[in-house]
Amino acid sequence: MTYSKIIGTGSYLPEKVLTNTDLEKIVDTTDEWILKRVGIKERHIASKSDTCSHMAHQATLKALEAAAITADDLDMIIIGTATPDKLFPSAACLLQEKLDLKRPIPAFDLNAACSGFIYGLSIADNFIRTKHAKTILVVGAEALTRLVNWQDRSTCVLFGDGAGAVILQASYEPGVISTSLHADGHYASLLWADNHLWEESPQETIQMKGNEVFKVAVNTLGSMVDDALAGSGLSKANIDWLIPHQANLRIIQAAAKKLELPMERVILTVSEHGNTSAASIPLALDYGIRKNIIKRGEVLFLEAFGAGFSWGSAVVRY
Ligand code: ACO
Repeated sequence: MTYSKIIGTGSYLPEKVLTNTDLEKIVDTTDEWILKRVGIKERHIASKSDTCSHMAHQATLKALEAAAITADDLDMIIIGTATPDKLFPSAACLLQEKLDLKRPIPAFDLNAACSGFIYGLSIADNFIRTKHAKTILVVGAEALTRLVNWQDRSTCVLFGDGAGAVILQASYEPGVISTSLHADGHYASLLWADNHLWEESPQETIQMKGNEVFKVAVNTLGSMVDDALAGSGLSKANIDWLIPHQANLRIIQAAAKKLELPMERVILTVSEHGNTSAASIPLALDYGIRKNIIKRGEVLFLEAFGAGFSWGSAVVRY
């Protein structure tokens, strides 16, 4: 039986940091409100040169080094993103150019909003399990602050930029134990950003009905836990670490409660990164691994929820 296993991770965060105190000077908000309601202290902000493919490239170089392989060992590139450099070619193709690959391996972007990395992980796992690929790069890379309305205090305090990269490789032992993906487009109008192709007056900034998003996110967490565990042959007691999408500390606390895990068993980066959408889980994973918090053999529960709504989870033995 073939499984896919994580052999290397890497991340990249833009140099510019915007603190809550900085935000107090831009909109009518306070450090106290942001910390209490969302749990964010600061976030990284992409400069003009921190495009999706640039951030993905920087994170990928670190992941390749950690995995001790070269870019030419890759059989596929997937980038989860809602903020690619261009409509086309994909950021994955632009990354392919930056990596200067010798073979014409498939490379594509995948937009499942904040769930993009989990969707990519699941696709990569399936390609490897079915022996269509041996080594796959999955990146979550996002520059959501380029879509932020800096006059809207209800959204501009939430988001940050960055990229996380994970390399999966075929293995005789798990690895990715199970994944579970879902979407329900009936909720499309609760969280969205237009593009300029179809609307007369496009809302190109992020539009969100925050507390409705919050309620559905929290209600969906329970089913995520049951779905992913059902396919894994494991129980809640087997989970060592929760690595959630880092949108809001209160949503993360609800997720930990559903898993019956104490907060000490949750990898938390939301206070320093903000909500980096598809990048948040691979950024948190890389943080946990590089800080030596996550050890080889431990069982991880990854879960994401975002626009669409789309959601998904994965149970992974590191
Ligand atoms: N600073 C100060 N006050 C604010 C701010 C701010 N930055 N933003 C909103 N407020 C005010 C509102 O104007 C409102 O004032 P009012 O009572 O005088 O009208 C009050 O705070 C309460 O507003 P709510 O929107 O009800 O606040 P809520 O407790 O729901 O918190 C938040 C808002 C943080 C956005 C929350 O709804 C949330 O986290 N939702 C989840 C959305 C999310 O994470 N989206 C990201 C993408 S999806 C995902 O990744 C899960």
